[in-house]
Amino acid sequence: MGDFDAFEREAWAGRAEAYARSFGLLCAHTVPMLLDAAGVGAGVRVLDVGTGPGTAAALAVRRGAEVFAVDAEPSMVERAARAVPEARVQHALLPELPFADGEFDAVVANFVVNHVGRPAAALAELRRVAGPGGRVAVTIWSAPPAPGQALVDQALRAGGAVRPPSVPTLDAEDDFPRTEEGLTGLLTAAGLAGARCTTVRWDHVVDPEVWWAGRAAGIATSGQILLAQPPGVVAEVRRHYDELAAQFRTADGALSLPHSALLAWATTS
Ligand SMILES: C[S@@+](CC[C@H](N)C(=O)[O-])C[C@H]1O[C@@H](n2cnc3c(N)ncnc32)[C@H](O)[C@@H]1O
Repeated sequence: MGDFDAFEREAWAGRAEAYARSFGLLCAHTVPMLLDAAGVGAGVRVLDVGTGPGTAAALAVRRGAEVFAVDAEPSMVERAARAVPEARVQHALLPELPFADGEFDAVVANFVVNHVGRPAAALAELRRVAGPGGRVAVTIWSAPPAPGQALVDQALRAGGAVRPPSVPTLDAEDDFPRTEEGLTGLLTAAGLAGARCTTVRWDHVVDPEVWWAGRAAGIATSGQILLAQPPGVVAEVRRHYDELAAQFRTADGALSLPHSALLAWATTS
């Protein structure tokens, strides 16, 4: 396992509850569109890869699909299995899934491809387990990020936080542009046909303390960077967070944070 994937294993370890309370609610926004793009409805055999707390798996069950789900983090597997007892949930890591070729009509991954060290190999594996004519649909964050998405990163910079070597970036040869063209290209390079991509934009309304608490618990790369800072720097980052967050405040004191994600889908043939 490379440095990036090893970091991801550690970053998610034991964090299912903290994720579900913070980022999980943000990531839930794209789930209905993701399932639509993958054609998930009654009787469809679907695999939700990187299921996290099981948000996509749960909606797929409600649509009458036959649902399988996997995640690399044991606390996520346990939480998803509890939340979605109708789904078959198990532990597995991209880019090697414990399924035969072509087992599924649809394969989805909501904000997972941006957490793997080898995105091209991950996409090839999603394609492998989707059957003839099967559909693959994925989401990732777009870059440059929308203003609400950049809030904590800006506070980290303004507060003098330093990215520690323990928080790796993707190797250059594995990276790809986080644009509609870049993600479409990744699907096409994986051998998928008719790849299409759209940008999904929305405002995530959240309590500012809840948003901070997710990062303070180490959720997302920015949360991992925050955890690595000495207390004085954390206090400075928090001060800048409060100042920068003011521009997103709603009348009732919540934050309305603009986000944008890429949703791409394709078929195996
Ligand atoms: C941002 S969360 C998304 C969770 C869920 N799909 C959702 O929409 O809320 C990323 C998830 O991908 C999982 N993950 C990261 N790397 C993975 C890998 N290589 N294989 C499978 N799952 C992975 C993490 O454990 C985490 O649950």
